Order: sequence, then C-alpha cells, then structure tokens
Amino acid sequence: MPAIVFCGFMGAGKTEAARAAAAELGTDALDTDALLEGELGMTLMEFFQREGEPAFREHEEKLVLRLLGEGEDVISLGGGAVLSASVRDALADHVCAWCRVDEPTAWERTRGTPRPLAADHDDFTRRYRERRPYYEEVSRAILPEGGWEIGRDAAPWLAALAESPGSRMIWARSSSAAYPAVVGPGALSLLPASRRWFCVADSEALRRHEGLLPDREATIEVEAAEERKTLAEAERVLRELAAAGARRDDGLVAFGGGMVGDLAGFCAAVYQRGIPVVQAPTTLLAMVDSAYGGKTGVDLPEAKNYLGIYHMPLAVLADPATLTTLPHEELAAGFVEALKTGLIAGGALWERVSGLEDLSPEGLADVVFDCARAKIDVVAADERDSGERAVLNLGHTVGHAIEAATSYGRYRHGEAIALGLLSALRLSDADGLREEVAAILDRHGLPTGLAPDVDLDAVLAAIERDKKHTAGGLGFVLVKRPGEPRHGQQVDPARVRAAVEELYPETR
Ligand SMILES: NC(=O)c1ccc[n+]([C@@H]2O[C@H](COP(=O)([O-])OP(=O)(O)OC[C@H]3O[C@@H](n4cnc5c(N)ncnc54)[C@H](O)[C@@H]3O)[C@@H](O)[C@H]2O)c1
Repeated sequence: MPAIVFCGFMGAGKTEAARAAAAELGTDALDTDALLEGELGMTLMEFFQREGEPAFREHEEKLVLRLLGEGEDVISLGGGAVLSASVRDALADHVCAWCRVDEPTAWERTRGTPRPLAADHDDFTRRYRERRPYYEEVSRAILPEGGWEIGRDAAPWLAALAESPGSRMIWARSSSAAYPAVVGPGALSLLPASRRWFCVADSEALRRHEGLLPDREATIEVEAAEERKTLAEAERVLRELAAAGARRDDGLVAFGGGMVGDLAGFCAAVYQRGIPVVQAPTTLLAMVDSAYGGKTGVDLPEAKNYLGIYHMPLAVLADPATLTTLPHEELAAGFVEALKTGLIAGGALWERVSGLEDLSPEGLADVVFDCARAKIDVVAADERDSGERAVLNLGHTVGHAIEAATSYGRYRHGEAIALGLLSALRLSDADGLREEVAAILDRHGLPTGLAPDVDLDAVLAAIERDKKHTAGGLGFVLVKRPGEPRHGQQVDPARVRAAVEELYPETR
C-alpha cells in the first residue's frame, strides 16, 4: 500500500500537515527526524556536531527506505532526505506531497531554533536552492504550504491519489476557497461519493468518453458552441436541473470544454443561490486554463462573458485521455492558452511550451499540469482580478473583440487569442518575440492574420466595449520578455488601431 509522505524544506510545516492527515485518516504519523533522534539516542544537533552530516544522511537513508518498504501510512520526511537518489527512487511508489514554503518564510521560522542547518543564512539559501528541484521531482501533490488545515483537508484526496496511479494534484488556494486540481488517468474516479451528482455534459465529450463519468442522478447535454453560451441556454440547464430534482446539497459536474465549464459553473453558482461544481475539463483549453480559478459566465450579443460570477470549484478533475478524441484544430486552439501561460510565467514553462514540436495528446499531460500550476499560483495571489490576476488576460482584449465582432462563430476562442497575442506583443514593442510567437502559431496551424472580410471598425468598437474598460481607460497586458507581464498599461488608441490593422494580410 503506498504511503502518504510529506516532504519539503525546513519550516514548511510538514510535520503538522502529516499529523493532521493521519488524524483525518484514522492512523498515526511517523516523523523521520523524531524517529532518528530516538534511534541515535541524541538530538540531531548533537549528532551533527559529533559525527557530521554524511554520517547523518546514511542513517536517515536507511531509516526512510525501511519505512517506505514497510508501507507505513503517513510519514513526515526530514527536509534533506530527498538528497538521496535511493530515497527518491523509492518515493516513486508512494504519494509524496510537497509542502511549499518560500525561502524568507522558512528562514524566519527556523533561524535560532535548535536545527543543525538553520544557523548560517547563506548556507540555508544554498540548501534551499539545491533541494527544490528534488521536491519537484518526487512530489505527486503540491501543497501551497504545510500546516494542520491543509494536511487535514488534503488527506482524503492524497489517499485517493494512492488509488489512482499516474495522477498528480495541485492544492489550489485563494482568498475564498481551497480545492484540489487533479490531472491524470482516472481523475474522474476521484469524485467524492459523499453527495449526489448531476452532470452538465458537452454532447461530443459525452458520446466519446461517457465511460469516464461515475454514477450520476441526471445528465443534461449541451451542444458546445460559443453562440450557445447564453442566458437562454443557462435557463434551459437550470430548468432541467430543477425538473430532475437537484437540491442544494447536491453537486454539479461540468464535463466538457471551456464553454460547458463556464455555462455549467454559472448555473451552479446561481442554482438555489449556489451548489458545488466540479470542473471536469475535456479540451486542452479547459485543462490548461478555464477550469481553474472560478470564473464562470455567459455572453451577451454585445460582448463576451458580460454576465458572470466567481464560483470556485469543489475540485478540478482532468483526465488527459479525453484529449485523444479532440480534433487537431481544438488542440491547437487550446495550445494558445498554454502559450499565453508560458509567456506570463517565463522560465521552464515558456521553454517547454514554445518548444513543443507537435500537439500529440500523449505529450501534453505535463504541459497541462504545469500550466494548471502556473494559473493556480496567479489566482492564489489575486482571486478577484483586482491586480495580479489581470496578467491572465494577455492577448484577450483584442482576442475577445475579434470574437464579438465576428459573432462568436468565425474563430475558436483560442484562435482569436492567438491574434490577440500578436497585437499585444506589437503593443509591447516586443518585435522579436512577436516573430517567434507568429512562427510557433504557424507551426501548429493557427492563424497569424485576420480574414480580409472581418470588419476592422467592428473589432475596434468591441475593444471599446471590453468589460475591463473602466473610467480610468482600458488597461492592456503587455509583455516585453517571457515571464515579465505588466497589466493595466494604457496604450494610445492609434497604436491599438495599428496593431489590429497589421493583422490583415495585405498589411503584413
Ligand atoms: N473561465 C475562464 O477562466 C475561461 C478562460 C479561458 C476561456 N474560457 C472560455 O472557454 C471557452 C472555449 O473553450 P474550449 O476551447 O474548450 O471550447 P468548447 O468548450 O467550445 O469546445 C470545443 C469543441 O470541442 C468539442 N469537445 C469537447 N471535448 C471534446 C473531446 N474530449 N473530444 C472531442 N471533442 C470535444 C466540443 O463539443 C466543441 O465542439 C470560451 O467560451 C471561453 O470564453 C473561459
């Protein structure tokens, strides 16, 4: 039986998290540092001073391998145990949860405490940097921090991960909610059996993948098309829910792409003043972006997503197996949101996304997980879009305007955002990056220009109506280099016009 193992740097709160998880699961938590002190017959500080670190690591490795081999239930791992390659290998058979902590917080919490490695700040920082990639490598679950509350709440999900090999989890937390985002085969089997479930399902996803859905009371089918992301369609779904007898203590599963996720999330938010929703994304776009963060809504003919409400999911359960039936055009459209996330996050994510040669579903699970993680981190800092979260709108001001000006029927959302990214990069004066992004879009068969018959004035008018427009003007998200987005940037309307005009083929 796989153990649940909490790892992380000094001061992350993994011992507390392990205790809480064990209490929740009705078992005991083992702490490797405490066990070692017992076995060595002295404190770790004393042992370090007498025998040195290499001798300590030897004892630690033996003990951890023994515990993992014995199949103990819940273990809190000493911060440096992951330095051993044998321990890292052994952890692959268990559910390892990484309790994150930033370096300044870890230092504040541990300096001056009787820990052998929390005396010198430079050494502490070096060790933090050295160990971080190992925590990344061994963890199947990423928690924003340790501590009692997270250990308790995440415990049932960590136990479920033990039954779902190949799945990984991020614990998303923002000001109003905390929920697990699980990516991997069989993710939908993690739907809690503790309540009745109703389902709003994309008819195509249902036809192809109904077998992935667990038992449910009723399924309301929706034909996914942006033209149907309307209040009228929401009313139909709500009335079908009422007719099927959905109650306040029931939950709704949104099984489909971003259209179904937005529509069903909106219905869940308003049905009897709110019932829980589990987002079960079946398109790449929904898996990398729309399923996380709680934005739900429908369009008005005047503008996109004009009616909406924040409604955080109870969980996001993403099974990449659904991507195998997605047409290439839909994969490519979803890829644009991954590219956007890469531009915002920069670093390894940008390298991974920009370097993708093809969009084969098999190679996309890691991209999904990393994009989900990046989006969840941004939302954690600003749930209600009042600041930092606005960076996620990169490319969306022009993109949404193109969708609205073409009555939502001409371009897929991701295709419109592709064009919006090109405009945003022009407005950012990032000419080299714009060329690079255009080449990437081209490689994946995505548009890099607008069809000549798209009405330029209609696009410009839709930009004016953008819901991000306030009395202070319309702030754009600009990005000069991957990883350096700036939101709320005012841009001269003449430059906006030129950046959109440039999308027409004859001016390229
Ligand atoms: N809430 C947010 O934060 C957020 C973020 C980005 C985008 N969005 C919204 O997402 C929507 C776009 O989402 P989308 O790109 O997923 O499009 P979509 O939901 O319209 O789905 C695209 C197509 O794929 C089909 N499909 C879905 N799953 C399938 C599967 N597994 N196999 C085969 N076909 C399948 C659908 O039937 C549809 O024809 C837009 O409405 C956009 O506004 C929301």
